[in-house]
Formats: sequence, structure tokens, C-alpha cells
Amino acid sequence: MTLLLVLTMNAANGNAAFHNGGTGACDGCHGAPAGSGLSALQPGTSTSEICLRCHAAARPEDCQVATSPAPPRGVPPASLTPGGDFAYLTKQYYWSEVNGERAVSPGERHGHNIVAPAYGYFPDTTLTSSPGGTYPSYALSCVSCHDPHGNYRVIDGSGTITDSGNPVTDSGSYGATPSATDAVGSYRMLAGSGYGTKGTSHNFVYDPPIAVAPRDYNRGENSADTRVAYGKGSSEWCLNCHGGMSSGKGGAHLHPSGVALGDAMARTYNRYVKSGDLSGNESTAFTSLVPFQSGDLTDVRQLAAITTSHSGPKADDKVMCLTCHRAHASAFDAITRWNTKGTVLTVNGGYPGTDAVNQGSDPGAAGGKTRAEYRVAMYDRDPSHFARFQRSLCNKCHAKD
Ligand code: HEC
Ligand code: HEC
Ligand code: HEC
Ligand code: HEC
Ligand code: HEC
Ligand code: HEC
Repeated sequence: MTLLLVLTMNAANGNAAFHNGGTGACDGCHGAPAGSGLSALQPGTSTSEICLRCHAAARPEDCQVATSPAPPRGVPPASLTPGGDFAYLTKQYYWSEVNGERAVSPGERHGHNIVAPAYGYFPDTTLTSSPGGTYPSYALSCVSCHDPHGNYRVIDGSGTITDSGNPVTDSGSYGATPSATDAVGSYRMLAGSGYGTKGTSHNFVYDPPIAVAPRDYNRGENSADTRVAYGKGSSEWCLNCHGGMSSGKGGAHLHPSGVALGDAMARTYNRYVKSGDLSGNESTAFTSLVPFQSGDLTDVRQLAAITTSHSGPKADDKVMCLTCHRAHASAFDAITRWNTKGTVLTVNGGYPGTDAVNQGSDPGAAGGKTRAEYRVAMYDRDPSHFARFQRSLCNKCHAKD
């Protein structure tokens, strides 16, 4: 068990740690696990597989972001992190529309297809490079986005990010603050300006977002949402590979990003409870199915406080890529947080499901999932959180239902 040998305890919080926001023990990644028959990490080896040795599990918890082996047909992936479970890449959903037409939601549409053949993840066959950019799909791996050496760090309270300087002494993902002598890692060790991997000539332009996640982030959200507080740079970071889908109104993407909600839309978000119910208020309005960027905050203490708040947005908070998408994978096409293709998210008070068609469920709405799979896709929320016939969550801001 190489895993156990290289893990240490984080003195500050007692959690098992490996990276601590920066460079972990070199042989945790560069060494071969004893007796595994695997070779040490060499250029050309599938890097995602190195990460998945620790980050995948049959019953994933904490930082494990992939259910492996891939769950069989009818069984949903089990990791419920903000980024989402990569095993959705192995899920092909088939169904027949009401008119009898066969429909499919292929696995490769459900996430960033990180290449890791040993885990059943292959390059995207349709999108051969990042839409709106040029990142080649054959080279997409965990280290396309995460710096394996955790060199990007936050060095002061105003969110200055560098890739060298004061040593990284803690994770930057949970609200630890940099001091005059010590830095913290970037949020989720995400890579920043100037970063590139060996497999491509592609270089990043934007620094990682300043953001804070709660410690307990891999869990069902029926009783409480897992709230990541996204601050400065969250809208821009994805543009490192999707530059053409940028920002403002009239951009190449179907939706603006990095744009402030303004008074009227913030008010709609705060009042919107579900289809037909606009009786909500700001203090309880937040849902992690439709998160937003908290202004341009760079103070991690302020962001940490937001992780335990249920409040909806202020006028200067922003719509961002992760409002609609997950970073890794989801149960839906285009890695969306909810099904943006169907008309309804619930049917007569229950989730749609291939096993509930005789109860009036529309097969198109179910998108090839059983009711139980659909519930997990909604991060284990009970359907009673929504209206009897809940419309798309675009309405959280637009209230066109
Ligand atoms: C979390 C896994 C991980 C850990 C821990 C790790 N490495 Fe790496 N390292 C990688 C990966 C993946 C690559 C290949 C990066 C690429 O494809 O561009 C790499 C590449 C390298 C390279 C060659 C490319 C370069 O950036 O110059 C060196 C040298 C290196 N690592 C040294 C180290 C040392 C020294 C340590 C311990 C202090 C370490 N690594 C810890 C994953 C890791
Ligand atoms: C030897 C086991 C091991 C390997 C190999 C490993 N990780 Fe981790 N990783 C962990 C553990 C344990 C944690 C949670 C504690 C921590 O952050 O140190 C973690 C946490 C993380 C986090 C969240 C860190 C934070 O501060 O928010 C990221 C991102 C991550 N790993 C990415 C990677 C990537 C990318 C690779 C491959 C290049 C990799 N890991 C390889 C064990 C590992
Ligand atoms: C396309 C970029 C991208 C790729 C590829 C990617 N990640 Fe991430 N990852 C992110 C972002 C962005 C977040 C933060 C998500 C959030 O908080 O909403 C994240 C979050 C995480 C976390 C924290 C838990 C979570 O899911 O929120 C871990 C651990 C992690 N990534 C590991 C990995 C590993 C291991 C791989 C490869 C198997 C990988 N990532 C591939 C962008 C990426
Ligand atoms: C390192 C480059 C890179 C970064 C950074 C990156 N992506 Fe991607 N993205 C890709 C590539 C390559 C593809 C096409 C291959 C694939 O989908 O697996 C892609 C595809 C997508 C798709 C289409 C998925 C589908 O199959 O329909 C979405 C949506 C997406 N990315 C959203 C995001 C968001 C949101 C972020 C920021 C959290 C982000 N990307 C950051 C490289 C990147
Ligand atoms: C308001 C919700 C929303 C926001 C905000 C948003 N997207 Fe999307 N995105 C979608 C939906 C819905 C689709 C699928 C519809 C489609 O295929 O056009 C999609 C599709 C995509 C695709 C796949 C396009 C293709 O050609 O297959 C990519 C890549 C993507 N988004 C990236 C991004 C990035 C990067 C950002 C931030 C700059 C972003 N999105 C912001 C909702 C959103
Ligand atoms: C977090 C809030 C939020 C969510 C959720 C959201 N939007 Fe928007 N939407 C905005 C903002 C902000 C604007 C820009 C308004 C402005 O500048 O006047 C906008 C603008 C638009 C526009 C006008 C586009 C343009 O270029 O002017 C359309 C159409 C739209 N949204 C559709 C959607 C759809 C479809 C969804 C769901 C996939 C969605 N929105 C989800 C906040 C949101």
C-alpha cells in the first residue's frame, strides 16, 4: 500500500494529507507501487492513471473523484463532489422518445474526457479539441488543469498568485490564509498563467480562481447544500482552454459569463423557490445546483464565511461557467449541473425515470436514467425540493416559468 506510506497527517487539522496544497512526496507519483507491476512515472505514461491510483475507489469518499470499477448499468456513480464523478464518462444512456425514435446520451458528453485507459476513460471522439480553443483532446489529463507539483500559490490577502516564492505550507482550498513567510496553494492546485504540460505547446493565460470549499464536500445534498464560495477569477479560468466562449453579451457561447447579475436578477434568484413559487427570501435562497461568483472577492476569510451561508446573490455577484457546468463530469450532456435539454426536471412530484414511464414519466425527460439514478444525478436531493412539474433551473435567474 504505497498510498499509506506516502500519506502524512496535516498537523493543522489532523486530516490525512498528501499534497498539502503543494508538492507531495515525489515517489507518491514518480515511484511505482511495490508489487503492482506498474512502472514509475515516465514521460508518455498516462498521467491521469497516476492520480487515479489515489483519487478513484469503489466507494469514493473525500477527495476521490471517480467510482472505479465503473458501476454497472442502472447503478449511478457514487462520488458527489462539486467537480463531479468521472465515472459518468463510462455511462451511455439510451431511450426511446414518445414518437419511438431512439435517443442516446453518450458517456463522452458527460465530462472532460481525461485519458486513462486502465480506468475506461478515452479521448473524446467528437470534440477533438476544446470548443472555443485549441487544447487537444488526446492530451487531456488531470494535470492539464491541476499542477501536479502545486506550484501556484496565493502569497497575500489580496489574492496575488505566483508560481514561486514563499513556501506552500497548507492547502489553499479551505480558507487558510497566507502569512508574511508562508504561502497557501492555489484553489484545488489549479494551474495558472504560463502553465503548460509536456504533451502540448498550449500555455495558460489566466490565474486560478480564489475560492474556498467546505471540508466536508463529498456527500449527498438532500439536507444541506455543499457550498463552494467562488471568488475572483472563477469566470475567467475556464477561458484558458475555451477562450472563444468568453464573457460578455453577444459572445460565441449561448450565454454570457463573468457578467454581474444586477439588482433585478439578484432579486429574482432570491425570490425563486421553485416553478410557480416566488415567495423566497435572500437569506435562504442559495442552491449549489445554480452557484454564482461572489463579486471579485480575494479575501479567503470572507469566502470561508460564505461556505456556511445560505444566502443568495447581491447585485454585483456574477454568472460564471460553473453556474451551469461542473468542472469534471455530470450525468448530463455538456457537463451541465441539471438537465438543460428537457422541459421538466420532475414529473408529477417525482423524478423522471425509465422505470416510471407507466406513472406518466416522459422518457425524454428521464434521458435513459432510472428514478434512482436521476436522484443521484441531482446530488441525492429529494424531488420534494422542487415543484411538481419543475422547469429548467435557468429560471432561478430568469423566472420565465
Ligand atoms: C501528484 C503527483 C506528483 C508529485 C507528488 C510529484 N510529481 Fe513530478 N511530475 C508529475 C507529473 C504528472 C509530471 C509530468 C508533467 C507533464 O506532463 O508536464 C511530473 C514531471 C516532473 C518533472 C519533469 C518535468 C518538469 O516539470 O520539469 C520533474 C523533474 C519532476 N516531476 C520532479 C518532481 C519532484 C522532485 C517531486 C517531489 C518534490 C515531484 N516531482 C512530485 C507528478 C508528480
Ligand atoms: C499517493 C496518493 C495520491 C496521489 C498519487 C495523488 N493524490 Fe491528490 N490527493 C491525495 C490526498 C490524500 C488528498 C487530500 C489531502 C491533501 O490535499 O493533501 C488529495 C487531494 C488532491 C486535490 C485537492 C487538493 C486541495 O488542496 O484542495 C487535488 C486537486 C488533487 N489531489 C489532484 C491530484 C492530481 C492531479 C494527481 C496526479 C498528478 C494526484 N492528486 C495524485 C492523494 C493523492
Ligand atoms: C478541465 C479541468 C480539470 C480536469 C481535467 C480535472 N480537474 Fe479536478 N478540478 C477542476 C476544478 C475547476 C475543480 C474545482 C471544482 C469546484 O470547486 O467547483 C476541481 C476539483 C478537484 C478536486 C476536489 C473535489 C471536487 O471534485 O470538487 C479533486 C480531488 C480533483 N479536482 C482531482 C482531479 C483529478 C484526480 C483529475 C483527473 C482524474 C482531475 N481533477 C481533472 C478542474 C479539473
Ligand atoms: C486544459 C484545458 C481545459 C480547461 C482548463 C477547461 N477545459 Fe473544458 N474542454 C477541454 C477539452 C479538450 C474539451 C473537449 C474534449 C472533451 O470534452 O473531453 C473540453 C470540453 C468542454 C465541454 C463540452 C463537454 C461535452 O462533451 O459536451 C464543456 C461544457 C467544458 N469543456 C467546460 C469547461 C469549464 C466549465 C471549464 C472551467 C471549469 C473548462 N471546460 C476548462 C479542455 C479544457
Ligand atoms: C447559463 C448557463 C451556462 C453558462 C453560464 C455557461 N454555459 Fe456552457 N453550455 C451551457 C449549455 C446549456 C450547453 C449545451 C447547449 C449547447 O450544446 O449549446 C453548453 C455547452 C458548452 C460547451 C460545449 C459546446 C460544444 O460545441 O459542444 C462548452 C465547451 C461550454 N459550454 C463551455 C462553457 C464555458 C467555458 C463557460 C464560461 C465561459 C460556459 N460554458 C458558460 C450552459 C452554460
Ligand atoms: C445565475 C443566474 C443565471 C442563470 C442560472 C442563467 N442566466 Fe441567463 N443571464 C444571466 C445574466 C446575468 C445575463 C446577462 C443579462 C444582461 O446583461 O442584461 C443573462 C442573459 C441571458 C440571455 C440573453 C443573452 C444575451 O447575449 O444577451 C439569455 C437568452 C439567457 N440568459 C438564457 C439563459 C438560459 C437558457 C439559461 C439556462 C441554461 C440561463 N440563462 C441561466 C444570468 C443567468
